[in-house]
Amino acid sequence: MMTGPGLLYGEYLRLDKILSAQRLLSAEYSNEVHDEHLFIVTHQAYELWFKQIIFELDSVRALFSSENSATCNGSSNDHSAKRDNGVSHVLNESKTLEILKRLNRIVLILKLLVDQVTILETMTPLDFMAFRDYLCPASGFQSLQFRLLENKLGVKQEHRVKYNQSYMRVFGRDPAAIEAIKRSEEEYSLSGLVQRWLSRTPGLETDDFDFWGKYKRSVETMLAEQEQAAHKAPTEPEVREHLLANVSSRRAVFETIMSESLHNALVSRGERRFSHGALQGAIMITLYRDEPRFSQPHQILMALMDIDSLITKWRYNHVIMVQRMIGSQQLGTGGSSGYQYLKSTLSDRYKVFLDLFNLSTFLIPRHMIPSLTKQMKTKLSIASNGWSADDSQDNPANSPGSS
Ligand code: HEM
Repeated sequence: MMTGPGLLYGEYLRLDKILSAQRLLSAEYSNEVHDEHLFIVTHQAYELWFKQIIFELDSVRALFSSENSATCNGSSNDHSAKRDNGVSHVLNESKTLEILKRLNRIVLILKLLVDQVTILETMTPLDFMAFRDYLCPASGFQSLQFRLLENKLGVKQEHRVKYNQSYMRVFGRDPAAIEAIKRSEEEYSLSGLVQRWLSRTPGLETDDFDFWGKYKRSVETMLAEQEQAAHKAPTEPEVREHLLANVSSRRAVFETIMSESLHNALVSRGERRFSHGALQGAIMITLYRDEPRFSQPHQILMALMDIDSLITKWRYNHVIMVQRMIGSQQLGTGGSSGYQYLKSTLSDRYKVFLDLFNLSTFLIPRHMIPSLTKQMKTKLSIASNGWSADDSQDNPANSPGSS
């Protein structure tokens, strides 16, 4: 039966290292606190899972990347999205299933991490107090893997809470950590890659199906109908005014996606994240998610939102635990204002896929979704070799019967 190099269970898993890494500081100060063991094991378990998430994330980013697009600043404008240095970025659609599987794995790990907080909450604040002073200045704030995870997903420096904008303060004495963080900022983040992919969604080409042109017309019709209905409604003048005001505020919101410059202004104010082209792709996939070729892409968009929500839930559970353990007036061992700092990280600024959450604002009723042309229906009914800048051309690989 033995065909491998003859390693035993403990040797293979390097358990000698892992299981001897629980060093209780309270014991070293001859004041052993029972719960410090749980505190250490919990943090170590988190770090191991962070490692696995980063491993999956790197592989997903590699699947999204084409050979010649290893690095960029993460921003994607619509033209560079289609071609960088003359190289067309094609996502082989046979890879979307693999991407989906790995994203879903990340989602499940994050669910576990959200729940794990409750185990540490079995430690009472009094027990924590008995060894907390020994930890100073160590803090989860110094978790390199957590920062890498955020950067690789696409959290931007300028969106971070001020206190957390300079990593030199935290990692300044560790050149390898600084290097890893810088690299994670320069490489394409998952968000950058997803945007590049979305902006190539088949059907966006203006000289072909021109989804955006058709969608704009549907939105205009919808708003005109709503306005007419408000005028005709058998109701009090105040109610009519309210209905009309509602239509005009919807019109103003739609204007912010119809006009690229208004959209870009919101991006520079940090209220939107996606490029204009990526947003169009996301809307198109959402509206036509029942077409076979958009089914997996739509599930990918769902998984990306799950990742964002679960990290927010983790932040929330962590913040509540921190308040329970140290209250809201004590500084953190890492030097921040503690609870107050952590509370400020709960806002939308850390949501990488914010635009996907807000997509529902731009949905239109089913009967108003532009009908697919016969050619477009065929295009979306089959899996092709990839979706690329060339997708609008008559590509034999996209014809029925080929895969
Ligand atoms: C008794 C339990 C815990 C307490 C009282 C606590 C307290 C804190 C405090 C006060 C901060 C703010 C930075 C500072 O130290 O000044 C912080 C940050 C952080 N903690 Fe914890 N923590 C606990 C458990 C954990 C666990 C189990 C993890 C899992 C890895 C963790 C990960 C982090 C991370 C990643 C940050 C940085 C968050 C950010 O800057 O957005 N903490 N923690």
